Amino acid sequence: MNTKQVRDLWKLRKAMETGEAEKLPKHVAIIMDGNGRWARQHRLSVSRGHRQGTETLREIIRHTDDLGIQALSLYAFSTENWNRPPEEVAALMQLILDFFASEIDELNEKNVRILILGDKAGLPEQQRETLTEAERRTEKNTGLHLNIAVNYGSRAELVRAAREIAEMVRRGEIRAEEISEQMISDHLYTAGQPDVDLLIRTSGEMRLSNFLLYQNAYAEFVFPNTLWPDFTVAEYDRCLAEFGRRDRRFGARTDPSEEGKA
Ligand code: IPE
Ligand code: IPE
Ligand code: MG
Repeated sequence: MNTKQVRDLWKLRKAMETGEAEKLPKHVAIIMDGNGRWARQHRLSVSRGHRQGTETLREIIRHTDDLGIQALSLYAFSTENWNRPPEEVAALMQLILDFFASEIDELNEKNVRILILGDKAGLPEQQRETLTEAERRTEKNTGLHLNIAVNYGSRAELVRAAREIAEMVRRGEIRAEEISEQMISDHLYTAGQPDVDLLIRTSGEMRLSNFLLYQNAYAEFVFPNTLWPDFTVAEYDRCLAEFGRRDRRFGARTDPSEEGKA
C-alpha cells in the first residue's frame, strides 16, 4: 500500500467509526466492463486488455476486504461470452488459470471464501479443476465472500433453481404452495448471502447483461464511465460514497413528515 492508499483507508475507517458504516453496502456486485475498448484505445490486443483488467481486479478485491464488506460478486465470464472469437475466449480461460495460480494463497491467508457462480461443468477440465480446488481450499474460511461468476447467466441460474424446487415437489417433500421467495433465494448460487446492495458497471454501459437478476431486485446502481482497466480504488470509494447518499425505500414511505398526508 502507498501513502495515499493508507490515508484513504484511514479516512474510510474514520467515517465508519462516526456512524457512516451503516451506509456501507453488505454486498457489492461489479460488472467489469471495458477491457476491449481499453485495448483499442491503447492499440493493444483484446487479450492484453483483459490481462490489464486483472490488475484492477486485484486492487478492488483487496480494498473490499480491507473495508470489511461481507460479499463481493464479480462478473468474469458470461454464458453469452462463448460467442466471442475463439482466441479471445482462449485468452480469458488462460487468465482464469493465471489469476488463481497467483492469488489463491494470499486470498486464503486473508480468510476469503471463494465461490464460483455459474456452471463449472460447462468449462474446460483444467479451469473446472482450478475453480473447484479454489472453492474447496477456502470453504471453511469466514471472511469476505468472494463470488466469481464464470460461465454464469442469471436466467440459467433461475432455471436451475426452478428445476431443483420442482424435484422437491415431485418427491413430495414440499407442496407447491410452500414455494417462497426465500426458497428461491436458497436455490441460487448465492444462497445464504445478503442481496446485492450496490451494483457497479464500469465503461458507461447501463445494463445488467444477465447478471444476478433476482439478487439485484433492490440494488442501487452506479455506472462510472471509466473502462475497467483504468478503474481505481479512489473511484471505487466514490461509488461507495454515492451509495451512502442514496435514499433506499424498498417500496415504503420513509419520510415520517409525509405520513398521513395522503
Ligand atoms: C469485459 O470487457 C470483460 C469480459 C466480458 C470478459 P469487454 O471485453 O466486454 O470490453 P468491451 O465492452 O469490449 O470494451
Ligand atoms: C458482461 O459484459 C459480461 C462480463 C463483464 C463478464 P459484456 O460486455 O459481455 O456485455 P454486453 O454484451 O455488452 O451486454
Ligand atoms: Mg463489454
